[in-house]
Formats: sequence, structure tokens, C-alpha cells
Amino acid sequence: MADTFDLVVIGGGPGGYVAAIRAAQLGLRTACIEKYPTLGGTCVNVGCIPSKALLDSSEHFERAKSGLAVHGVNVSSVSLDLARMQARKLKVVAELTRGIDFLFGKHKVERALGTGRLVSAREVEVTSEGGTRRLAAERLLIATGSKPVALPGIAYDDRRIIHSTQALSLEQVPGRMLVVGAGVIGLELGSVWRRLGSDVTVLEYMDRALPGVDVGSAKLLQRSLERQGMKFRFGVSARSAEVVGDEVHVEVAANAGGAPETLTADVLLVAVGRRPYTDGLGAAELGVKLDAKGRVIVDEHYQTNVPGVFAIGDVIAGPMLAHKAEEEGIACVERMAGVAGHVNYDCIPNVVYTHPELASVGVSEEEARERGHEVRVGTFPFQANGRAKAMGEREGQVKLVADAATDRLLGAHIVGARASDMIAELVVAMELGASAEDVARSVHAHPTLPEAVKEAALGVAGRAIHI
Ligand code: FAD
Ligand code: NAI
Repeated sequence: MADTFDLVVIGGGPGGYVAAIRAAQLGLRTACIEKYPTLGGTCVNVGCIPSKALLDSSEHFERAKSGLAVHGVNVSSVSLDLARMQARKLKVVAELTRGIDFLFGKHKVERALGTGRLVSAREVEVTSEGGTRRLAAERLLIATGSKPVALPGIAYDDRRIIHSTQALSLEQVPGRMLVVGAGVIGLELGSVWRRLGSDVTVLEYMDRALPGVDVGSAKLLQRSLERQGMKFRFGVSARSAEVVGDEVHVEVAANAGGAPETLTADVLLVAVGRRPYTDGLGAAELGVKLDAKGRVIVDEHYQTNVPGVFAIGDVIAGPMLAHKAEEEGIACVERMAGVAGHVNYDCIPNVVYTHPELASVGVSEEEARERGHEVRVGTFPFQANGRAKAMGEREGQVKLVADAATDRLLGAHIVGARASDMIAELVVAMELGASAEDVARSVHAHPTLPEAVKEAALGVAGRAIHI
């Protein structure tokens, strides 16, 4: 006999757990199935949170080594305690996963530990070490997320040929690290290990870092990372890799042709994207349609072709971001409950947490032109911002893209310290349909980094004050 709920969510990542809590708030009797012992999914366990913990710790290390003397702070000896750094990361993760358990208790979401498999449009079988159990519900929500992609010819051995999960837990700093993919994981985790002492080379198939991101902003970030010592090889791909003793030998071919070369490293990090995860879910067997990339196809209500079965987050189309998964989870269950949930896909921020950070929302300058807009662009360098100078954070700029005829903001791209925090203002501005003039006329506290946002907005009309 199955336990019965109004909603059963499969997957306890940011999409699934947030959807479950919101559903409970709306009065739905909700259960959430997660196969791992801790809630939080990729994001909290092996993604956003541990990577940011290591990014922050490694930034402190680098600053202590070479970034403090300019402030008149002399540090005589700096050494790395990697075990302690990793332990701190685990503590941060544990506090957050326990926090989700607490929230489930508070909102009376029933948590089912085990692997969920759809047996019908109304029933999920949950298998764990303790046996199997069936949960029945009016509605089922697939929130099973994504997993790292593997490259043909390169098998992970989880020690020297690794993906992001192992790159978050190395116990020693590799002398040489090769990274395949100059995407967000390559740049973030490449930064962590370079700061801690690795000689990092990033191999990228395209002719630029961060394909899809505003070209000028991505170039600024790349140059900055190069100055820090990260090396890039563009227009190449890794064909095969082999562990030989304590090394990994990687065969690399240039897109332009010529004989492949063999590069040698201690660790090869493959970061070439993630794939939607539906393995063992029974979705295809139930007739749930997937697209050519394996993503669950949904309609505007996040409902699949099987009535009553919904899907959100990394397992459906769109950017693979925690906040996108969360917003979809909320909108999906709100619509189930008759509330007008909505996700504005034009206003989803995207952040690369390197130093400097790169944060953007909306379209790039190139994309705005491709979409037929005549655009006006305002830029303002942090070099000319008082607070940035005081902090010693002069790198980067704010770039705003506005429609020339209406002045409406179409995109914002910030390279600089704390860009991740600054982008929020522009997300809200764009969500409310603001013009560059609206942002320019809003009073910004002085001296702050966001004054660079105001100046860039003034710059759209050619009247920035401080440049
Ligand atoms: P997931 O978080 O993948 O959760 C899915 C859950 O479902 C998992 O816990 C899985 O165990 C469970 N599951 C799967 N199948 C079953 C089943 N059959 N039964 C039971 N449980 C199942 N995004 C950001 O926005 N900001 C960042 O800074 C950021 N950093 C990242 C850093 C790294 C290294 C990585 C890898 C990703 C990062 N991401 C970041 C992406 C982010 O983690 C994902 O977009 C987000 O976790 C997707 O949420 P989700 O709920 O859709 O899926
Ligand atoms: P990605 O899609 O960001 O980047 C992959 C890169 O690998 C691309 O530049 C691509 O051109 C390159 N590539 C693909 N095949 C290649 C090959 N054979 N040889 C050389 N280069 C190749 O994927 P990534 O970095 O693995 O991250 C996966 C996803 O995780 C991201 O798309 C993002 O959605 C999410 N994420 C988000 C973060 C954030 O928000 N800060 C941090 C980390 C991950």
C-alpha cells in the first residue's frame, strides 16, 4: 500500500527541495525523495557551495602571500594547511545540508531516502538499503538534476583524470594541472588550484573563454587570469588521456590541423559541461518525452507530455544554474496550487566566481545587435571608482547595453571584485523594465563599488561624470 501525498518531488537539489518547501507552504502534502543521505543536491554537496568555500579560502591564501604588503600589512610567513581548508569546506556544506533537513521538519515535508523510479504517472517506487516503498501522489515532480559529461577517449579514473566533484576534494596540490574547457568550472576550479600553487593550463576548443558570455567582458577576465598565471590554449581539444605512473599524458589536437601533441600533467580536470540526469528514473519507460540532449521536455507549466508529471531545474532546458532551478520549482508548484508563478528567463543572472568576478544578466552586446536592436553601450572602469581604489580592486568595468531608441536596459556585464553582489541591482532594474536613465538617476551611496553601475548608466547617454 503506497503512502499518499498531493505532490512527490524526486530529487533534493535546489530545484527539488525549494519546490517541496514552497508546495508545503501552499498547503500541499509533500514528500521529497533523495538518493543521497544529504539534501541540497549538486549545488550544496558538490557544486556551488564547496566551490565557493574553496574559492574564498584560496583567495585568502593568495592575498596573505602577496596581496597585503600594498596595504602596509607585512606577513612574514604564509603556509597552506590544505586539510584544514578542506575540513572548513565540509563544515560549511554540512551546516547547509542540515539546515535543509531543519526546513523540511519545519514545513512538514516528508523526506524519503532512496532512489526514486516512476512506476506510473501517480506512483514512485523508492529503493534504499532498507528495502522498497511506494509513494503515490496527484502530481509528481522530476528534479533529478545533472551529471558531468565525459569526453570520448578520456575515461575518468577519479584520481588523475577527474571531473569537478573530485577537483573539489584533492588532498594535495597538483604540481601541474591541465583543464579541458574554459567554461565556468574550468575557470573557477582552475583558479582555486592555481592560487594554491598549481601550474594550470586550460585547453579550450573554441577561440575564446566562456563562449556565450559578452565577448569584451570575457576577454577582460581572461587577461586578468593570465596576469595571475593561468595559461590558455584555444582552438584545441583533448583527444585521449592515459595515466602513466604518477602522471597523466594527454593527446591534444589543434582544430587547425597538424600533428597532435602530448601534454603531461599530474591531474587532468575535464570540465566540458553537464548532462541532464534521468538514469534509472523510469521516465522514458513511462513515455515521458526527452529531447535530443536527454532533457525532459516540458510545457509552459513545467508539465511533461504525461499529465501529472512535471520537471524543473538542470534536467530540463535552459541554463544549469541553482537559482534558475529554484525559481522554476517555485513557479511550477505555485501553478499547481493556482497561484500565478512565473520565471523571467530574460533576467537570470550568471556569475563566474573568479577574481575578478564576472557577473551578467540579459543579452551581450553582440546578441542585442543580432536580435535587431540598435544599441547604446555605457562602460565605466573600476580604475575610476573611489571605493575600488581604496580597496585596491581596480580591475574590470561595468558595461551596460541599452536599446538606443527606448533606453531600456537589455544587458549588464560586470567584471570586477564583488560583481556577484552588484549584478542584483541590475537584475531588479531589468525585471522592472528600467531604462539606463532610471539607474543613472537613482542615488547610489558614496563611496561604493555600485557607483560604477550608476556611472555606466550615465555613460549610456554619454554623460558619465568621473571619466
Ligand atoms: P541537482 O542539484 O543536481 O539535484 C538533483 C538531485 O536529485 C541530486 O541530489 C540527486 O542525487 C537526486 N536524484 C537524481 N536522481 C534521483 C532519483 N532517481 N531518486 C532520488 N534522487 C535522485 N550554479 C549556480 O547557480 N551557482 C554556482 O555558483 C554554481 N556552482 C557550481 C559549481 C560546480 C562545481 C557545479 C558542478 C555546479 C555548479 N552550479 C552552480 C550548478 C548547480 O549546482 C546546478 O545548476 C543545480 O544544482 C541544479 O539543481 P537541480 O535541483 O536541478 O539538480
Ligand atoms: P561549460 O558549458 O560552462 O563550459 C564547457 C567548456 O568546455 C566550453 O567552453 C566548451 O567550449 C568547452 N569544451 C567542450 N568540449 C571541449 C573539448 N572537447 N575540448 C576542449 N574544450 C571543450 O561547462 P562546465 O564548465 O563544465 O560547467 C557546467 C555547468 O555547470 C555550467 O554550464 C553551469 O551551468 C554550471 N556551473 C555554474 C557555475 C556558476 O554559476 N558559477 C559554476 C560551475 C558550474
